[in-house]
Amino acid sequence: MKRMLSGIKPTGQLHLGNYIGALKHFVEYQDEYEMYAFIANLHCITVPQDPQELHANLRDCVALYLACGLDPKKATIFLQTDVRAHAQLGYIMCCHTYMGELNRMTQFKDKQAKGERNLSGGLYTYPALMAADILLYDSDYVPVGEDQKQHVELTRDVAERMNNRYGDLFKVPEPLIAKVGARIMSLSDPSKKMSKSDETNKGCIYLLDDLKTARKKVMSAVTDSLGQVKFDPENQPGISNLMQILSSLSNDRPMADIEAEFAGKGYGDFKRAVADKVCETLEMIQGRYQEILASGEINEALAIGSDRANKIADAKLAKVQKAIGMEII
Ligand code: AMP
Ligand code: TRP
Repeated sequence: MKRMLSGIKPTGQLHLGNYIGALKHFVEYQDEYEMYAFIANLHCITVPQDPQELHANLRDCVALYLACGLDPKKATIFLQTDVRAHAQLGYIMCCHTYMGELNRMTQFKDKQAKGERNLSGGLYTYPALMAADILLYDSDYVPVGEDQKQHVELTRDVAERMNNRYGDLFKVPEPLIAKVGARIMSLSDPSKKMSKSDETNKGCIYLLDDLKTARKKVMSAVTDSLGQVKFDPENQPGISNLMQILSSLSNDRPMADIEAEFAGKGYGDFKRAVADKVCETLEMIQGRYQEILASGEINEALAIGSDRANKIADAKLAKVQKAIGMEII
């Protein structure tokens, strides 16, 4: 079975875009791949965090992953700091990454160009830590958004460099870029991605929104004056986005099917159907979420996960340190 690894940086509340674009797929992947999903808490602190908020986000993130169907019996779910080899190999990777390479990483460059002050050294070197995250597990595939592709390419370069210098140490991973169409747009401005940085808070449905709020957000979603339910992202971006949501939450129901059902009906009827589906999904996730919080499932999942991950990561770290000549015995 091929291995897949993904790191999640929970710097905010998870939303419907995260669910449709990422989480739902991870749940499918866990049957096809040996899946490693970790909470990247070392990456979180590359920018300032409020400790209480970070703590709550980390816990919610694990709970929601489980609530959405990630199964600790199939997938290895763990907290990055529970596997110390990440920080250790991260340092070693940092020593094998050139400053010229880090200088080219757009995430850091963009922040610097915007004139953001007091950027941390951790933010600058974070691609080297990400390389360690991936290479520790000999991952075949790394599912990431377009913005992370550059980091996976850097990982490949550094892995090849070290393989050439020290012998075969690492598997060289492939990025797996999310399929097109997996871009859910804001309900209040369908030209923008649904995102946690939504200032008005009307366009983003959080997985933990209460059902009344979620319904209201769908019912007041921006549409158009054409009055037809048709999948045409260019001319009817709002309606097409709602159709995308409805389709994704109904086992990828074909658009033609949805168009046929709502032919000759008003947007009100259509929005009600979308709201029903969204609420049904949230209700299921939130029900499991509450159960998970009340049970010991989070601790249990993380304990099993870190156990499994530590075994693999420790063996890889030992191999690397030996190859470099860092060990005495
Ligand atoms: P982020 O919330 O930006 O850290 O992204 C976490 C994951 O969710 C990534 O795999 C993204 O590709 C995915 N994601 C975030 N926002 C959306 C969206 N609006 N539509 C689809 N996928 C998204
Ligand atoms: N850098 C990723 C992000 O910002 C999170 C991440 C950290 C990651 N380590 C990883 C993703 C390893 C994939 C593989 O979203």
